[in-house]
Amino acid sequence: MILQAEGLSGGYGDTLVHRGLSFELAPGQVLGIIGRNGTGKTTLARLISGELRAAEGQIRFNGRDVTRLPAWERARAGIAMMPQTDMVFDALTVAENLALLGPVTLEPLATRFPRITGRPGQLAGSMSGGERKILGFIRAMLSPARMVVLDEPSEGVQAENITHMQTTIAEARARGIACILLEQNITMIEALADSVIGLDSAGIVYRAARPQISRAAMLDAISL
Ligand SMILES: Nc1ncnc2c1ncn2[C@@H]1O[C@H](COP(=O)(O)OP(=O)(O)OP(=O)(O)O)[C@@H](O)[C@H]1O
Ligand SMILES: [Mg+2]
Repeated sequence: MILQAEGLSGGYGDTLVHRGLSFELAPGQVLGIIGRNGTGKTTLARLISGELRAAEGQIRFNGRDVTRLPAWERARAGIAMMPQTDMVFDALTVAENLALLGPVTLEPLATRFPRITGRPGQLAGSMSGGERKILGFIRAMLSPARMVVLDEPSEGVQAENITHMQTTIAEARARGIACILLEQNITMIEALADSVIGLDSAGIVYRAARPQISRAAMLDAISL
């Protein structure tokens, strides 16, 4: 397993959003996490990336206990994160945002997202919400990670570009990269996920793995 969460609890101050969550993810697999607004997708993404420290439980990444490691050390260990907001550096240009990754090959992403990579001099902060999502997605997918955590990458992104995102995630999976996809976009989850967790305010209310993943059961469990 690349990721193992055991009895994971966490939230903000005294308010726990998650209590005792356990799940795991194998290399080259996509874990879909689906839930309505406010069910704790972003909180869970932050617990995994280390932006939030777990109140209880353990997170193992690539066999190593990372529960107490700060976000930058988890990033160095191979966890890439695309946050739901602030996924790019607004004060930097597109080219500068990409240059922070070090030397990378932009293809095939440049061909898929020409409206983003074709404007290297534009300030990221002056782009539309959907464009900034795509730039953040490109950054996450080009980072040298073993696991990518994507917090609602499809939010505000047009259908054609969501399809390109799906192709990009599927390619990464084929290279052995694991992915945690937190979404409200059930079609994207259905298309990509090898296993699914459905969240609601009570915690995990749906769990399934391919080929048992069912759109109807997912919708029913999370009342999306
Ligand atoms: N910084 C914070 N301080 C206190 N409570 C917070 C904070 N961020 C989120 N919460 C609360 O934690 C709960 C889960 O929020 P979270 O943002 O993780 O949900 P989400 O599933 O990502 O929602 P969305 O689909 O709207 O992005 C909510 O009740 C929210 O109000
Ligand atoms: Mg969120």
